[in-house]
Amino acid sequence: MLILGIESSCDETSIAVVKDGKEILSNNISSQIEIHKEYGGVVPEIASRQHIKNIAAILDESLAQANVTLDDIDYIAVTYAPGLIGALLVGVSFAKGLSYGHNIPLVPVHHIKGHIYANFAEHDVKLPCIALVVSGGHTNIIHIDENHKFTNLGGTLDDAVGETMDKVARVIGIGYPGGPVIDRMYYEGNPEFLKIPEPKVGEYEFSFSGVKTNVINYVNKMRMKGEEFKKEDLAASLQKTIVDILCKKVLKACEDKNVKQIIIAGGVAANSLLRSQLKEKGEALGIEVSYPSMKLCTDNGAMIAIAAYHKLMNGYKPKDSLSLNGIATLNIADEKE
Ligand code: KG4
Ligand code: ZN
Repeated sequence: MLILGIESSCDETSIAVVKDGKEILSNNISSQIEIHKEYGGVVPEIASRQHIKNIAAILDESLAQANVTLDDIDYIAVTYAPGLIGALLVGVSFAKGLSYGHNIPLVPVHHIKGHIYANFAEHDVKLPCIALVVSGGHTNIIHIDENHKFTNLGGTLDDAVGETMDKVARVIGIGYPGGPVIDRMYYEGNPEFLKIPEPKVGEYEFSFSGVKTNVINYVNKMRMKGEEFKKEDLAASLQKTIVDILCKKVLKACEDKNVKQIIIAGGVAANSLLRSQLKEKGEALGIEVSYPSMKLCTDNGAMIAIAAYHKLMNGYKPKDSLSLNGIATLNIADEKE
C-alpha cells in the first residue's frame, strides 16, 4: 500500500511516499526556519505563503525520488489539525485537489498522531504503551491501548516544553528555534547552577510557565545589576529541570497503568538529554523506551502517511473527497480524534 503524506501545519512543507506504513521511499522537507528566524518565531501569514510557493515542487520531488507517479498512490494522507489555520489550509486544499483530480481517497490525520506513529515505522512498539508528546505546541501523556485507542492522561496547563525553550532562548538571545541550541549548550554549562522549583500541579499535569519565568527573572536581575552571567549555565539548568519533570511524570504513568513501553513523540523528542535519561531510567525499571530517528522527530510528511496507514488498518473508511465538508474549509467535521 502506497500512501502520500502531506504536512503543512507550521513552518515545514513536507511530502513523503511511504510503503505499507514502514518503508519510507521519500520524505522531502522544506524548512522555513531561516525565514522566520529574523522574527524570533513563526509568522503565520509568511508560513502560508511559503507553503503555497513550495508545495507543488515538493510533490514532484517526492514522487520522483520514490520512483512512482500519482497513479501508483493508493491513499493521500494530510494533516488537518492542529496547527496554524492558514498553513493547514494550504496542505488540506492541495490534498483535496489531488484527491479529486486523481481519484485517490483522502485520509485526514491529526498532527500529534503523526508524531506518535513515527515510532511505529522504526520500532516494534508493544501496546499498551504510554506516549510522551513533546513539541512546540504540545506536552501530553497519552495512554494507547491494544486497539490503538488513545486516552489523554494529562497535559500542560500553560506553556508547552518546546515553547518554553524557545521563549527562554529568545530572552537570552541564542536564536530560534531555541530547543536545539539549549540542547547543545547543556553540555557546556552547569545544570545545577539555577535551582528551579518543580511546579505543584496534578500527577500527569505540567506547568512550564513558572519554570520559564524563573529563568527570565534571573536574567532580568543580572541585567539590571549590570552583572555578567553564563548563558550555558541557564540553558543547562533549564534543560535539566524540564527533563527531570518529564521523566518523573511519564514513569509514574507507566507504573500506575502497568505499562512496559514508552514512546517519545514530537519535535522535543530530538532532545539528547530526554532521550538518554528516559531510556536509562526506564530500562532500570524494565520499561522499553523508543523514540524516532532525528529525521522523523520534527514535522515531516512520512509520519502523516504512517499514521494514516494505522488509521486505515484500524478500520477507517475514507470518504469521497468532495464530501469532506467543502473544498475550502478545514473543518473536517466528522473527524473524531
Ligand atoms: O513538533 P515540532 O517540529 O513542531 C510542533 O509541532 O511544535 O516541534 C518544534 C519544537 C520547537 O519548539 C523546537 O525548539 C523543539 O521542537 N526542538 C527541540 C530540539 N529540537 C527541536 N527541543 C529540545 N531539544 C532539541 N534537540
Ligand atoms: Zn509537530
